[in-house]
Amino acid sequence: MRFVPIDTPKPVSKIGLGTWQFGSKEWGYGPDYEHRAADIVRRALDLGITLFDTAELYGFGRSERILGAALGDDRDKVVVASKIFPVLPVAPVVQQRAVASAARLGVRRLDLYQVHQPNPVVADTTTMRGMRALQDVGLVDEVGVSNYSLRRWEFAEAALGRRVLSNQVRYSLVDRGPEDDLIPYAERTGRIVIAYSPLAQGFLSGRYDATHPPSGAVRRANPYFLPENLARGAALIDTVRQVADAHDATPSQIALAYLIRHPNVVAIPGASSVEQVERNAAAAEIDLTDDQYAALVDAAGRFRPVTGLAAAPKLIRARLRK
Ligand SMILES: NC(=O)c1ccc[n+]([C@@H]2O[C@H](COP(=O)([O-])OP(=O)(O)OC[C@H]3O[C@@H](n4cnc5c(N)ncnc54)[C@H](OP(=O)(O)O)[C@@H]3O)[C@@H](O)[C@H]2O)c1
Repeated sequence: MRFVPIDTPKPVSKIGLGTWQFGSKEWGYGPDYEHRAADIVRRALDLGITLFDTAELYGFGRSERILGAALGDDRDKVVVASKIFPVLPVAPVVQQRAVASAARLGVRRLDLYQVHQPNPVVADTTTMRGMRALQDVGLVDEVGVSNYSLRRWEFAEAALGRRVLSNQVRYSLVDRGPEDDLIPYAERTGRIVIAYSPLAQGFLSGRYDATHPPSGAVRRANPYFLPENLARGAALIDTVRQVADAHDATPSQIALAYLIRHPNVVAIPGASSVEQVERNAAAAEIDLTDDQYAALVDAAGRFRPVTGLAAAPKLIRARLRK
């Protein structure tokens, strides 16, 4: 395993484990998945993964419970990251919710406590007052944000008066926006960009095509899995596969290796099996050449999916066909 070259109380592995899938029916993994989830966590620990990401929202607390139970006595050795869903993130609410998350996880301290998304009404000055109080009493170690623009990340940091260590954002070969400003900022200032949906929810695994789309409500709502976009993505997947062949690796591993080539980026793929977490952890060891990196950038730049408003009627039709 490799780690982010930043001074943090505990080392942060370049590949973490995302746990939205835990206890969340909308991924469609069925009731047996809960046991597998515990095995995935135990295996991740064996493989040197130290960053475990959850949120109070995932399975309405179920993900935090499953993760905490599976970590067991190893909870204190790793970076446990959770998130507040900021419905009314005023200081006293932030404090209550952190206590509840820590209780579900069974931890004395949240290593990283993140604001899940910017609140359009409540300013970060208020939210960060709560975060600062949590740090002062020792319930929270590092503060993070998620889905924040650079401007709002900087504002949150000014409001906290301390570093806001990380910004967790959608970042993958098909969503490269963070490369414009968030990643350069993280590199300049010693912060971390945590890449969520780093495999574009499995789109980049190359396992799916128009005749074999994934199941589950989450991915039925994801425009990348529209038949048209799966077809449009074929050329990109071909390039990812060619690079994978050169490394005796899988497309998913290359998709992760691409992201974490940036020193201040960590990726937190979710996993539906122990085998996947093994492969994902191994991706930390893959070094892409400059030519391979450039080929991936080029292929990613040519991918033009149907998204936004244009995709909405197609998503609704796909949903009605189920
Ligand atoms: N902050 C936020 O707003 C936010 C939003 C979304 C996610 N997140 C976090 O980020 C984490 C990851 O994002 P995500 O779950 O949306 O997407 P993801 O990590 O891109 O995709 C996860 C899915 O990809 C497939 N997969 C994983 N490893 C694979 C491998 N080695 N080979 C082939 N397929 C593989 C699995 O699905 P199948 O096997 O079923 O294909 C798995 O469930 C979440 O768990 C959550 O912690 C945060």
